[in-house]
Amino acid sequence: MIHCFKTTNILVDKLSICFLDYIVSGGSSGRQLNIALSGGNTPRAFFDKIALKQRKTDKPVQWKNIHFFLVDERCVPPDHTDSNYGMIHGALFGKIDLPARNIHRIRGEDDPEREAYRYEQEIHAQVPGKKGIPIFDWIFLGTGEDGHTASIFPDRTDLLASANIVEAVKHPVTGKPRITLTGKPIIQAKKITFLVTGESKSLIVRQIINQEPDAAHYPAAYINAQRHDTEWYLDTAAAKYL
Ligand code: 6PG
Repeated sequence: MIHCFKTTNILVDKLSICFLDYIVSGGSSGRQLNIALSGGNTPRAFFDKIALKQRKTDKPVQWKNIHFFLVDERCVPPDHTDSNYGMIHGALFGKIDLPARNIHRIRGEDDPEREAYRYEQEIHAQVPGKKGIPIFDWIFLGTGEDGHTASIFPDRTDLLASANIVEAVKHPVTGKPRITLTGKPIIQAKKITFLVTGESKSLIVRQIINQEPDAAHYPAAYINAQRHDTEWYLDTAAAKYL
């Protein structure tokens, strides 16, 4: 399902309303909702908007029932400008009444292999699963101009079927270490939303959504093809060729 909006601001406005409606109704049931967020630049405006609108919902958000996880992290300390946790904390976590225990961050400052294993255990302890795969309630993804999603890059499509749910990887160009959820927990999530904005992503968006042959090795295209109910939130610049 593709949702396209004239501007990024209108997009994040609508998506934040939709997200808050979801967590108000789901969170009030008393059940723990497990949400995994991506980093990068694109979602910052969405997180800002959630923080801004959270006091305007009909019923109060029960933040105590909402647990946040990271889809991926760059291996840097949390106060580093590249830290996904740092970005999300600045835009959202630091502005809402969320208990610290509900934030499940990837410790980018620790040894990547060991931290990938530790994070996997933390997810298993928190998120109910089926056949060893945790089922997140909602996963938010982005994509890069090379077709990666999470930190699953086109040179590591093996991670889409990894038996581990979290892996340490290296960025294919910079060689910098990262830690990422792998394909199975992403594909098994109850709800998957890609948030993509800007003209620089318009070609990749067209290739992925139209399932063009060029997209065959794009991890984002694989996820989209596996899950026909994947939601796409695009601005008109990113949707230019659709
Ligand atoms: C990251 C991400 C990554 C991101 C895309 C898009 O850590 O970089 O989680 O998968 O979603 O790279 O990033 P931009 O929004 O910065 O273009």
